[in-house]
Amino acid sequence: MAVTGRAALLARIAARYRGCGRFAAHYVAGKLRHDPLTGALLALGAREELGEVADLGCGRGQFAALLLEAGLARSVVGLDVNARLLRQARRALRGLSFQGCVQDLTADPAVPQADTVLLLDVLYQLPTAAQVRLLEAAARSARRQMVIRTADPAQGGRAWLTRLLERAGRRIWPHAGAAVNAQPVGWMIERLRGAGWSVRVAPCWAGTPFGNVLLTARRDGAATGVVQGAWDGTDGAASARWPAVSFRKALPTSWAVFPTAAPNAWAPVAMAVPAVCAPSAMAWPASRAVLPIVCPA
Ligand SMILES: C[S@@+](CC[C@H](N)C(=O)[O-])C[C@H]1O[C@@H](n2cnc3c(N)ncnc32)[C@H](O)[C@@H]1O
Repeated sequence: MAVTGRAALLARIAARYRGCGRFAAHYVAGKLRHDPLTGALLALGAREELGEVADLGCGRGQFAALLLEAGLARSVVGLDVNARLLRQARRALRGLSFQGCVQDLTADPAVPQADTVLLLDVLYQLPTAAQVRLLEAAARSARRQMVIRTADPAQGGRAWLTRLLERAGRRIWPHAGAAVNAQPVGWMIERLRGAGWSVRVAPCWAGTPFGNVLLTARRDGAATGVVQGAWDGTDGAASARWPAVSFRKALPTSWAVFPTAAPNAWAPVAMAVPAVCAPSAMAWPASRAVLPIVCPA
């Protein structure tokens, strides 16, 4: 998508959240602008429309809004345990084909049938047994593909920083869950492969200091661009920008997701302290970033 087209799209979505309070509006605008997931989802949808989508742990629904506004999904059912976030999602996505339902995915892992199931930054917030049940339910319900973003505990300094910030922010951060419990990516891949899916994994951290990866699982075995062995930083735009991540770049990015309207004054401190104390963790050399070996099912 052209830069101007993308800017206009993000502005339209941000405008939808104006009625949801200053924090929500700032958060969504910053999140969509700075999170590499935005580009990854737009690229995925450009290759193939996502059809009917189930967004598990949808939060405020900003990624559902992105896909629907961009015309890359036909409809989205969003599930989340947080009724307040869902109210904002329903309000912001009025007029789009979005349905939001309150559901605790730990207690009730039922997943609606959908062409594409999204699990974006939610699995790591659940106890391990609940992650297993939810992955299995998602694998049964997804007709075509699953898109999973998660923190990769194998990403050295990035993983350490991600875990630290998630733990530090748990008490104050409105999107926190019951746990900070990222499972090894290889563990997830094995389960998906066992259920007959092919899986592609790629970094989803560009421009941020975090250790997030994106798993794209396909029922038809077409998860291409499979990463083999050590990550060499050449597969796709996300990784191409990876060596440029530095302390100086990472800090403003981290701040950007904490709008000035943050309800709790400790939020910026929770982000800034580890950033100042561990700058080297943010400049983890590309040569040392290793992703697990992934093979198609
Ligand atoms: C980090 S946010 C991610 C939100 C959204 N997927 C995104 O990527 O912007 C995690 C979301 O998972 C939700 N969540 C955590 N535990 C959950 C559970 N047991 N059942 C349903 N949703 C849950 C939280 O309420 C929160 O909205």
